[in-house]
Amino acid sequence: IKRITTHILQEMKNRGEKISCLTAYDYSMARIVDAAGVDLILVGDSASNVMAGHETTLPITLDQMIYHASSVVKGVKRALVVVDIPFGSYQGNSSEALRSAIRIMKESGAHAVKMEGGAEIKESIIRVLSAGIPVMGHLGLTPQSIYKFGTYSVRAKEDDEATKLIEDAKMLEQCGAFSVVLEKIPAVLTKKVSEQLTIPTVGIGAGPDADGQILVVHDMLGINKEFKPRFLRRYADLDTIMHEAIGQYVADVKAVDFPNAKESY
Ligand code: KIV
Ligand code: NA
Repeated sequence: IKRITTHILQEMKNRGEKISCLTAYDYSMARIVDAAGVDLILVGDSASNVMAGHETTLPITLDQMIYHASSVVKGVKRALVVVDIPFGSYQGNSSEALRSAIRIMKESGAHAVKMEGGAEIKESIIRVLSAGIPVMGHLGLTPQSIYKFGTYSVRAKEDDEATKLIEDAKMLEQCGAFSVVLEKIPAVLTKKVSEQLTIPTVGIGAGPDADGQILVVHDMLGINKEFKPRFLRRYADLDTIMHEAIGQYVADVKAVDFPNAKESY
């Protein structure tokens, strides 16, 4: 199998092929996601919500992200593995950003890192890139800043925020980022940014004109049914399937139906 690189993702944009992306946080899920043909696997700090049950992405630590990332890397043969640098491990300090990125690359074997923000974190982006570590940007609704926004609603609906987003996206490209995630922004703005950038954009809740799409795998598989924003398409109802399977197991154990003779030694 030919491994996906940042250069291959660029070629996909150049020829108009959309880039498919999903999250994964562990070995078993990463194996399934990779084998199904997803191009880019993000070890998102959404692990803070999905895996650890926190209300926001802020509490997850660098050590915890490295644990998730090293598990994912072992399950992946083809996809590019990108890891979120967590809140508090890069903002406002480019030396710390570089140290965090190097730890992720060395200790997990991942292929790239992602950081949230534009002009505010320019120095950190440049510093990490200068070490030869590919960087993915993330603009629009950046969940590490949720207490600044105060709400998870759509970003950049007003002209001033949209203008800043376009400037930030161009800055990321000029610095050498290989791609940028656009989260929860108007579809028309995604189209504009994707046309104006050479590097591929990856959208979530950002309409059809991003160069790629990403979803949280537990959300699209219907494992987490409480989260249902309009941008989410459910491809399976694993919550129901798992609930029924486990309920059947409990009933079989209680009825002394499991294990039977064939399942015993
Ligand atoms: O952490 C995450 O899952 C993400 C994606 C939703 C882009 O950052
Ligand atoms: Na994230």
